[in-house]
Amino acid sequence: MADRPGTTRLLEVEAVRYRWPGEAGFALEVPRLSLDRGERLLLIGPSGSGKSTLLALVAGIVAPLEGQIRVLGEDIARLGASARDRFRAEHMGVVFQMFNLLPYGSAVDNVLLPLSFAPKRRARVGSHLAQETEARRLLARLGLDASAIGRRRAADLSVGQQQRVAAARAMIGRPELMIADEPTSALDTETRDQFLDLVSGELAESDAGLLMVSHDAALAPRFDRVVRLADILRDGRSVPVPVAVP
Ligand SMILES: Nc1ncnc2c1ncn2[C@@H]1O[C@H](COP(=O)(O)OP(=O)(O)OP(=O)(O)O)[C@@H](O)[C@H]1O
Ligand SMILES: [Mg+2]
Repeated sequence: MADRPGTTRLLEVEAVRYRWPGEAGFALEVPRLSLDRGERLLLIGPSGSGKSTLLALVAGIVAPLEGQIRVLGEDIARLGASARDRFRAEHMGVVFQMFNLLPYGSAVDNVLLPLSFAPKRRARVGSHLAQETEARRLLARLGLDASAIGRRRAADLSVGQQQRVAAARAMIGRPELMIADEPTSALDTETRDQFLDLVSGELAESDAGLLMVSHDAALAPRFDRVVRLADILRDGRSVPVPVAVP
């Protein structure tokens, strides 16, 4: 682990400011947000409020104009773009809102993809054969039979199937931080629950954390904390207010 010994803090966002290039009307200012190891945090908020933008910052896809984003003690805001890419591949599993699959790759190719940029994560899974077996296990746990969908390219899978491939890709090699942007939006209730059960099981095994965005308020009881984006933004009510979870 790249973490300091004894530290349970997985993610610390501090005084972050971001604006998309050319987007004069939108600015995101996050004074503070944190996530501990083993914690599952659900982020909610209206469309266009900046949820995906915040996840892009935490995932290191974009760098903030100001502020710190510490993941496992490393301030990824200070890294260059390619170092951020390597850090993400090694330590984070990301389910993007638009999935971002390799359209011509098979389901298994897509699930294995992050391992090719992440030697430590790859070593956790094992040999080539073990990697393929693990990819198939994760897909099967999400109700996808890799043999049945065979060599079909990802672009020819249904939207819900693509979403499950993206989820398996995020989980392979048990990264410390899982970031998921509406990962269940195209799934039926049963598959959605399979996904959440699998994520919870994987997280418990590795003491990883989950930062997830969803519009589905019914998911709240499955999280340790629910935070409204408006509550963590500057000009919002300055501190995250946990929504009472039964
Ligand atoms: N790649 C991008 N380039 C430029 N502007 C962007 C980009 N992504 C988002 N934005 C802008 O940032 C603002 C926040 O968008 P964002 O996608 O973060 O919202 P969101 O809360 O995730 O919405 P939704 O619930 O619809 O997914 C919007 O004004 C949007 O136009
Ligand atoms: Mg979004």
